[in-house]
Amino acid sequence: MNGPTPQTNRRGPRPNRPVALIAGAAGFLGSHLATRLIDDGWRVYGVDDFHTGLARNLAHLADHPDFVFMEHDIRRPLPKIAGLAQVWNLACPASPPHYQDQPIRTATTSVVGTLNLLELATQAEARFVMTSTSEIYGDPEVHPQPESYRGCVNTTGPRACYDEGKRMAEALCYDFVRQYGTDVRVARVFNTYGPRMRLDDGRIVSNFVAQALTGQKLTIYGSGRQTRSFCYVDDLVEGLVRLIEVERRPETPVNLGNPEEYSILEMAEMIGRLTGRRIRTTHDPLPADDPRRRRPDIALARRLLDWEPRVPLRTGLAATIDWFAELLAEEGRLVAKPAAELRGAAARRREPAGGAAVSLGLAAPEH
Ligand SMILES: NC(=O)c1ccc[n+]([C@@H]2O[C@H](COP(=O)([O-])OP(=O)(O)OC[C@H]3O[C@@H](n4cnc5c(N)ncnc54)[C@H](O)[C@@H]3O)[C@@H](O)[C@H]2O)c1
Repeated sequence: MNGPTPQTNRRGPRPNRPVALIAGAAGFLGSHLATRLIDDGWRVYGVDDFHTGLARNLAHLADHPDFVFMEHDIRRPLPKIAGLAQVWNLACPASPPHYQDQPIRTATTSVVGTLNLLELATQAEARFVMTSTSEIYGDPEVHPQPESYRGCVNTTGPRACYDEGKRMAEALCYDFVRQYGTDVRVARVFNTYGPRMRLDDGRIVSNFVAQALTGQKLTIYGSGRQTRSFCYVDDLVEGLVRLIEVERRPETPVNLGNPEEYSILEMAEMIGRLTGRRIRTTHDPLPADDPRRRRPDIALARRLLDWEPRVPLRTGLAATIDWFAELLAEEGRLVAKPAAELRGAAARRREPAGGAAVSLGLAAPEH
């Protein structure tokens, strides 16, 4: 097998650190998780093929002695890694424009990629976390959605590559539990936002913030009365870490998301206030199979993980607006500056948004 070439910095790893592999490490959530695990004392192998991920998301880890990067498509088998104790699958485009752009790639990443990672975890006897999605509930008839709800998904629509890919990935996870006793935990992640989202992510937060900061009208799909819940990235990462660390493996998937519900119109108003803009809107038709309501029931996460989101929407949005303002300023497209009162709050959370490419020194493979 032609395995990926691990790249690490020249200082070499610090001894006796447990080893985790994160597939999708250059993505929005994966890069935050990599930072968190390294802060917690792990040696992290980040795997990504840069399909939607960005090298800049990992720039702050490029010289870290406990970070190793492997450019690799998870649809191909992965090499063995000594001492592997955790395998995380976050490799899959999450935003509808991105996952619908190459639907067959999306579906096979979820199915074949998850299979390869499950095999790696099983051979290493490592714990495995699958990031599934609230999209497996489709356009739900039950509200809020508990884990026991089986969903209402159109198997032939444009979202099926993602929704059905994730449903098959979940099925594979529990087949590995039954057939091999693999220690698998499944997170059903609901809409999450924060710094390092892409400007062209195409979802509500990034669309509205980018439009507000560039002086454009905010595009509302449908009436704008449909609701969504928004979880700040730090809260989500905390939930993921608790899920893999909890001693007793949850027998079912666990919802992770923020149960506070906002209509799209309320979100537009709040972003207007935070960016100091008088918001003007334009209405477009709802995309196909767009869910009308989505809100997690997080009773299980509260009970099993003692977890619930803590970052208020206003605080999380301030940090996110600050991030997008820096990106847009670099591109010379920033028209409105975030309100001054928020920049202080955001600065405390801000990650470097600088455009430095990741430069990783080559090291010998550690298969
Ligand atoms: N962000 C959310 O709101 C959200 C909601 C529900 C579920 N999730 C899930 O969380 C995970 C991470 O989402 P995200 O928002 O960080 O998305 P993202 O697009 O920012 O990150 C996904 C990463 O996976 C990489 N990737 C894609 N296909 C790959 C392949 N075949 N091989 C190797 N790497 C590949 C991409 O390059 C990218 O870096 C995904 O599994 C997604 O389905 C996210």
